[in-house]
Amino acid sequence: MKTINDFNFSGKRALIRVDFNVPLDKSFTVTDDNRIRSTIPTLKKILKDGGSLVLMSHLGRPKEGPEEKYSLKHTLQTTEQLLGVPVKFAGDCIGEEAYKLSAALKPGEVLILENLRFYKEEEKGDLAFAEKLSKHGDIYVNDAFGTAHRAHASTTIVAQFFKDKCAGYVMAAELENAKKVLEKADKPFTAIMGGAKISDKILIIEKLLDKVDHLIIGGGMAYTFFKALGGNIGNSLVEADKLITPAY
Ligand code: 3PG
Repeated sequence: MKTINDFNFSGKRALIRVDFNVPLDKSFTVTDDNRIRSTIPTLKKILKDGGSLVLMSHLGRPKEGPEEKYSLKHTLQTTEQLLGVPVKFAGDCIGEEAYKLSAALKPGEVLILENLRFYKEEEKGDLAFAEKLSKHGDIYVNDAFGTAHRAHASTTIVAQFFKDKCAGYVMAAELENAKKVLEKADKPFTAIMGGAKISDKILIIEKLLDKVDHLIIGGGMAYTFFKALGGNIGNSLVEADKLITPAY
């Protein structure tokens, strides 16, 4: 797998799929900047090479087109602070205005595109939409590990429109970690898993069961297990379609 270390981005526009799906408070301030912070080394390497950045991401799960609370403009200030350079914003991820902004980027400049999920085509993995996104860059970089399990237009489909494509540091490091855990973990091996959505993790849990001596499940997804085992979870998070009562 190629990473950004295999490329010199001098004079190139990098179209980067990041995962800026970060929590916001009522006044749309980022309350946990970890996902943005983790991509900074990737972004800095490309800028240092003399490239420019077009960042694309989803934020939340908008249902019917644009919604203020899901606008990626809310991530602008945090990105500027962490990256230490001004960041421009395109109020749409495709379209004339967005193309004008990405085409005008000079080396060292950064643009964030509006939420990809304001278009249904993103989650459908639409080919034509992916091709439109691809117009924003010369090299495609995927650094959105948190979204890597989704076959969406910007994560999987868009890559076919690029000769030059690679993983960013977040993606490369996570894949290396996963490999270590699955192939050469020291024994005894205890895995601790968290997160809200069991639907996203169930395949990983199944894979891990053959490898681990102990598996500890925490976070929001634990409630679905409690409920399946007959527990009372009040109003806590549950994924009802994942409840299967054990046979024992
Ligand atoms: C996440 O937060 O799990 C990722 O950003 C993916 O988001 P999604 O579950 O809405 O696709």
